[in-house]
Order: sequence, then C-alpha cells, then structure tokens
Amino acid sequence: MSAEHPEPTRSSAPPAKRGLWAWINERLPVDSFISHELTGYFAPKNFNFWYFFGSLAMLVLVMQIGTGIFLTMYYKPGAAFSSVQFIMREVPWGWLIRYMHSTGASFFFIVVYLHMFRGLLYGSYRQPRELLWLIGMLVYLALMAEAFMGYVLPWGNMSFWGAQVIINLFGTIPGIGPALTQWIRGDYGISGATLNRLFALHVAAVPIVLLLLVVLHLVALHQVGSNNPDGIEIRDRLGPDGKPLDGIPFHPYYTVKDIFGVGVFFILFALVVFFVPTFHGLFLEKANFTPHNPLSTPADIHPVWYFTPYYAILRAVPNKSLGALFLVLALVSLILVPWLDRSPVKSIRYKGWMSRVALAVFVVSFVGLGYLGMQPVEPIYVILARVCAVGYFAFFWLMPFYTRWERVKPVPDRVVYHAH
Ligand code: HEM
Repeated sequence: MSAEHPEPTRSSAPPAKRGLWAWINERLPVDSFISHELTGYFAPKNFNFWYFFGSLAMLVLVMQIGTGIFLTMYYKPGAAFSSVQFIMREVPWGWLIRYMHSTGASFFFIVVYLHMFRGLLYGSYRQPRELLWLIGMLVYLALMAEAFMGYVLPWGNMSFWGAQVIINLFGTIPGIGPALTQWIRGDYGISGATLNRLFALHVAAVPIVLLLLVVLHLVALHQVGSNNPDGIEIRDRLGPDGKPLDGIPFHPYYTVKDIFGVGVFFILFALVVFFVPTFHGLFLEKANFTPHNPLSTPADIHPVWYFTPYYAILRAVPNKSLGALFLVLALVSLILVPWLDRSPVKSIRYKGWMSRVALAVFVVSFVGLGYLGMQPVEPIYVILARVCAVGYFAFFWLMPFYTRWERVKPVPDRVVYHAH
C-alpha cells in the first residue's frame, strides 16, 4: 500500500446496519424509540403488585376498541334494542364479543380505580408528577363519559331512565340549564335523536380523545420517570454510567412482569365473561333486559356500580342543585390532590398515622357510597350516605392539615427492595 492510500483503520463503531430494517430506520426512528422508551428506559427496581394496573388499563382500552369495532358492524341506533338481541342470538360469536365489551367496561373501572388508589398510596401525584395526575384525571372523566354513553346504546329501560337522570343533571346549572339539556338531547325529551348522537360520540369522538390522552399520559410519565412504593426519586442517584442506581431497564424486566399480570387478568376476565357476565346485576342490570319504555319507570333507578359512589353523594344532599354541586366537588377534590398533600414524604410507607387513618376512612367511605348508591332511597341509607360523604370530603379537605401535623418516618437514601 502506498503512502497516498493508507490502510483503513478499524473503528470501534458497530458496522452500519444494512437491509430492510436499516432502510426503515433511516426513515422512521423505530430503533431509537425502542432504546429510548423500552430497553433504555429505566424504571425503579422495586415495583410491586400495584404497578400492574397501568399496563392492564392499556390492555382493556385496546380490547374495548377491538370488540367495539365488531359490535358497530351489527349495532343500529335506529333499531337499538333489537340489533343488540340480534348480536346476542344470531351473529356468530356475537354473544362473546358483546359480553367481552360489557364485562370490559366494568373491568376497565376496576383496573383504573386500583391504578388511581396506587397513586394515592405512594404519592405518585406529587411534584414532578402533577401533570401526569391531571392528565390521568382527564382520562378518568373521558372514561366516565364513554361508559355512560355506552350504557345508553342497548336502549333497555335502564339505559333510557339512566340517560334521563344524568342528562337532567345539566338542567340544574343556573340560567343555561334547561336550554343546555335540550341542546344535549337534540330534542324535547330523550329520543332517537339523542341515541344517535350518543352513538357517534361513543364510537368515534370519545375514543379518539381517550387514545390521545393516554398517549399524553405516557409521554408525561416518561418525561419525569415512574414513582415507586418508596416514593424515592431514582433519578437523583445515578451510577458512573449515568443510569439510575435503583433502576432496571423497562424491557425485558417489566415487559415480562406485565405479561404475568395480563395472564392473571385474562383468567379472571374469562371467568366472568363465561360464567357470570351479568355479575348478578352489577355489570348488566336486570331492567336493561327489557326494551326502553318512557311510560314505565323502573322501581329503582341507579347507575352501574362504578358511578354509584357519586350518585350516592348526589342523593345524600336534599337540594338537587346543591347535590350536583357536591358531585362536581367530589371530582374536583380528586383533581386537586397534588396540591392538598403537604407532607414532606410521598409514600404511605413513611407517612404518619393520620395519613393512614385518613386513607382508610376514604376507602371505607368510597366503597360505602358505592354500596349505598345502589340501595333504594330510604332514610337509613340516606343518613349513612351522608356519613360516608363527610368521610370522603374530610380525606381531601383536611389533607393540608394532617399531612403537615403528623410525624413522618425518615426516608432511606436508596429504594428498599427484597427479592422474592
Ligand atoms: C385508560 C386509563 C389509563 C391508562 C391506560 C393508564 C396508563 C398508565 C401506565 C401504563 C402507567 C405506567 C405503569 C404504572 O405505573 O402502572 C401509568 C402511570 C400513572 N398513572 Fe395512569 N393510566 C390510566 C388512567 C389513569 C388515571 C385515571 C390516573 C389518575 C388520575 C392515572 C395516574 C397515573 C399516575 C400518577 C402514574 C404514575 C404512577 C407512579 O409512577 O407511581 N392514570 N398510567
């Protein structure tokens, strides 16, 4: 070799990839996405059972969209009740798709409630995750709207009367109430026009919003990183390689862990779908197996279980407008929790006894309200609902005080992890 043509030197860089995969990656950042968000995304090593529910919520969302698309192929808002019966009896596997979708709605709320409770338990809403929590709350509100509209679609008698009660709630807004209710219904009463628009919103508008919000939720999560059961920021302690000392790559460690969660989820889900799809009237109510009838009010109107805590608050207040106001306040309190909690520590593991008692009171009150919201309006139930409503609000409104007054435990420097 001459001096003009020196021998090529060996480089430590990996040889450039060739072929289809390289061609795609030059045009779409698939590899860099995987290394940023999965293999190179470090999550705390001490995730426990409570950290299953985010990925499960995503699974249920995908399942609801998948089964929903198939239901839409046969459902007709102009012949709502009979088209659902047709799906159940005539369409091959229609019963399975429908029961997966109706059971999926309840499982969505079970998963999301457990997911939110984890946030309360470990202070996952605290700085720097306030926006993550707020986006989560928007997801929750969108999910409630989606579930309500889905419940109206089969046009059973509870669909009709449930829609009546919920849409009339807008009528309690001073001034614009009556005009607003009429605008929402698209008619002077709940009618076919109302059903048609709820169908459009349920199958197109709200799912798009939900998907967008979930993407934002995940982007916000990856921006600040996950919290963990100790409430310690793993990004504050980096090793010499610049990676969190207490973190492990999301893939493969947590992808494998999440797949286990998915397995357990499907076992429970299949048990309900195949053996108790109505879940004794909790997931699909009796009154909804008869067609809607504006002349026959069901003996006792109440929404599906996931709304009954709020419904109980609404009924606990004698004045209807004031009741609606408290219902809104119940949700606003949950939205504001990042700013109500003034504790120097995040996780319940290091908080004092007052926070523990308050969280227990909250859980008992919320479950109690859920039960009472399903009972007939009798004095004893109304009184108990008032007691539970006080417990619910006390948890939030007294939080700025008890989180500052109580004595907290010292938080260790590194996360605590005991291998199983
Ligand atoms: C469709 C509904 C939802 C989906 C698909 C979803 C998805 C996820 C996923 C995949 C994670 C990361 C894994 C995990 O921490 O479990 C996460 C974390 C989180 N989510 Fe959600 N979520 C949903 C609803 C909500 C709601 C309603 C809230 C509360 C208002 C919420 C608040 C949070 C918080 C605070 C975290 C961080 C938790 C931590 O790092 O400790 N999410 N979410």
